[in-house]
This record gives sequence, C-alpha cells and structure tokens, in this order.
Amino acid sequence: MKGFTALFLVWTLLSPDSGGGEAWPTHTVCRDGSLEVLYQSCDPLQDFGFSVDQCSKQLKSNLNIRFGIILREDIKELFLDVALFTKGSSILNYSYPICEEDLPKFTFCGRRKGEQIYYAGPINNPGFEVPEGEYQVLLELYNENHSTVACANATVICS
Ligand SMILES: *[C@@H]1O[C@H](CO)[C@@H](O)[C@H](O)[C@H]1NC(C)=O
Ligand SMILES: *[C@@H]1O[C@H](CO)[C@@H](O)[C@H](O)[C@H]1NC(C)=O
Ligand SMILES: *[C@@H]1O[C@H](CO)[C@@H](O)[C@H](O)[C@H]1NC(C)=O
Repeated sequence: MKGFTALFLVWTLLSPDSGGGEAWPTHTVCRDGSLEVLYQSCDPLQDFGFSVDQCSKQLKSNLNIRFGIILREDIKELFLDVALFTKGSSILNYSYPICEEDLPKFTFCGRRKGEQIYYAGPINNPGFEVPEGEYQVLLELYNENHSTVACANATVICS
C-alpha cells in the first residue's frame, strides 16, 4: 500500500513535458496469462493511480481496488461514465453514480478540491466473464457541475 501511494505521488507530481501534446505514461492495472488491462490518464492536468487485487477474465464480484488522486474539483456528487468500444465501434455506454448527496457510497464523498484521496477497498461490481477480444474503454469521473475530476482511456486485451 505504501509503495502504491509513493508511486502515485510520483505520477501526479511529474507533469508531462511542457511542450504540450505529450501523453501521460501508460500504467498496467493487471496482466496475467489471458487478461491485460492498461490505462492512460486523458486529463491534460494530471495522472492518477489505480490498481486491482485480482486479474482474471473470470471477474469476481466486489473487487478490491486502489485508487489515488488529487482532486481538482469538489466531489459532493461524483459520477462515472464508461464507454466501451471494440474495433472502433461503440458497444456500451454506462453511467454510474458514485457519490450522491443523499447516498454517499464511499468515504471520500464530499471531499474538496485540492485534497488527496486514496481509496483501497471493495467496489460493488457484478462478477462476469470478460469475453475474448480487445476493447477500448473511456472513463470519465465528473462532479455535479459536469467538471472533470479524472479521465482515462484504457485497453483491455482478453485472450
Ligand atoms: C489512449 O489513447 C491514446 C490516443 O488515442 C492512444 O494512443 C493510447 O494507446 C491509449 N492508451 C491506452 C492505454 O489505451
Ligand atoms: C457547482 O456550481 C455552483 C454554481 O456555480 C457552485 O455554487 C457550486 O459550488 C459548484 N459545485 C462544485 C462541486 O463545484
Ligand atoms: C454511446 O454514446 C455515443 C456518444 O454519445 C454514441 O455515439 C453511441 O452510439 C453510444 N453507444 C451506444 C452503444 O449506445
């Protein structure tokens, strides 16, 4: 956990080359025999740390994740949009409320701009088997004013 936090701080403190157009480094969420998940921050202002405790195409429910970021916006409310593509075609759009005023699901809900959040624990995901293929995933976290909190594009390769 300590290593993760330190790494995350290094990522967030290293800004990409000031020339512009320079992408954030690609991070590996997990890689095993049949599943590989990579992501890159698509927020020009910062990178963030993310990992999962399990890497298997047979995804179990209630995965434990680790997530660390410095908030660039208040998150009284927080939403996640997920867009899934394969071979350039859109196959799924999904929107999920993470923090709502009357239903804060996580301890970090309500934190303020400039604060660092670090979450390690379960997410309430359903278990399923990842179908074989290569997928592109766009993820965006935003608050009630639709201001971006984090953005990532990921590649999932399942064989
Ligand atoms: C994120 O998107 C960029 C630009 O489209 C692409 O070059 C990169 O490979 C993508 N990264 C991942 C991890 O999918
Ligand atoms: C959203 O916008 C309103 C009006 O500008 C502002 O009062 C409020 O603080 C903003 N909320 C967040 C979470 O930034
Ligand atoms: C997902 O949203 C995009 C942009 O709004 C839209 O072009 C696409 O058709 C949607 N895909 C599905 C599967 O609904």
